[in-house]
Amino acid sequence: MLTNDQRDHLIQIATHTRQWAYAPYSHYPVGAALLTTSGKIYEGVNIESAAYPTTMCAERVAIFKAVSEGEREFVALAVVTRNGGSPCGSCRQVLAEFGLETIILIANDTGHLLQETSIKALLPSAFGPNDLSENPPQGVK
Ligand code: THU
Repeated sequence: MLTNDQRDHLIQIATHTRQWAYAPYSHYPVGAALLTTSGKIYEGVNIESAAYPTTMCAERVAIFKAVSEGEREFVALAVVTRNGGSPCGSCRQVLAEFGLETIILIANDTGHLLQETSIKALLPSAFGPNDLSENPPQGVK
């Protein structure tokens, strides 16, 4: 569970960092803030490219920054857009890799929390690390 302060703080950070989004093609800036179990917060923005498919989402920038600095356990991620857009499928998959319990806060650019959910809820029946183990789960999922 997040405290109200943690919730507000994460949304505030994602809102603030959104100004650094590089989105000259979509004009849809996204800001993300990822809280780790160690208490650090990693920020991310979307970074677009003239070669469109190489664009990277804000959520994955935040996760990749965290993982590249040794963090693998996450508490919550806030994502802020102008209209409360939800994390894309690729970001859900990358988040799922590091735990299905991660809380996702979806807010708009007025700082209003529109949805509080989890990766488990956003990506049901996720393919994950266990599926690659020696004894993968058997039977109908
Ligand atoms: N975008 C994100 O940063 N996160 C998402 O989960 C959805 C989409 C970005 C990618 C692109 O720069 C812009 O939003 C429009 O798709």
